[in-house]
Amino acid sequence: MLYYFLIFLMIIIGFIGVFFLLRSIVIIFSLFTSAPYVPLEKYLIKESTRFLSLKRGDRFVDIGSGDGRVVFWVAKNYPEVEYCKGIEISLLLNLASRFLRLFSCNKERIVFERRNAFKCDFRKENKVFIYLLKDTVDKLMPVLEKQLPSGAKVVSPLFTIDQKYEKSGDLSVKEVIFRGKIRKIYIWTKK
Ligand SMILES: C[S@@+](CC[C@H](N)C(=O)[O-])C[C@H]1O[C@@H](n2cnc3c(N)ncnc32)[C@H](O)[C@@H]1O
Repeated sequence: MLYYFLIFLMIIIGFIGVFFLLRSIVIIFSLFTSAPYVPLEKYLIKESTRFLSLKRGDRFVDIGSGDGRVVFWVAKNYPEVEYCKGIEISLLLNLASRFLRLFSCNKERIVFERRNAFKCDFRKENKVFIYLLKDTVDKLMPVLEKQLPSGAKVVSPLFTIDQKYEKSGDLSVKEVIFRGKIRKIYIWTKK
């Protein structure tokens, strides 16, 4: 009996090991591309999503969802949100998030799509999370400004949303302390 248990344990540990190894490989390789994958720390996910004021019927999207951690967080902590979507350009990361979705208790409200954000339609979503490089934020904001419905919110931890978007929305900056340092979170609400 103990023998079978040990084999079972080794298989599980093997699977976990392979998962983390693949994840590290994806992270390292992505650092050399124009779309690096750097997962956001849990504390900053929690603080940033708090500023989205998520409520019943909201439709959430994480643009550049990586392994889906933000989407899983929102689906778990905000059960009143209608759906939580993750858009990801990388095939491997999209597959990883789809795989993890299989084990989620909230899978019926979670969707992952492998797509380039610049070819997506965001007219249905009203709560948007972006943790992307400054250049990508700058390119994406005009798309969001045009497509999102009035009252929609965009939150961008660490990377600035340009002041020019004050014309079409309310822009605010919140500061949180993380590991002894001040971190800025940018929030834009479309007028
Ligand atoms: C910094 S990671 C953020 C991952 C996740 N949102 C998080 O906070 O942990 C940025 C992600 O955006 C993806 N990405 C970059 N450009 C994209 C684009 N044009 N369309 C979709 N995804 C993109 C990258 O592949 C990467 O996984």
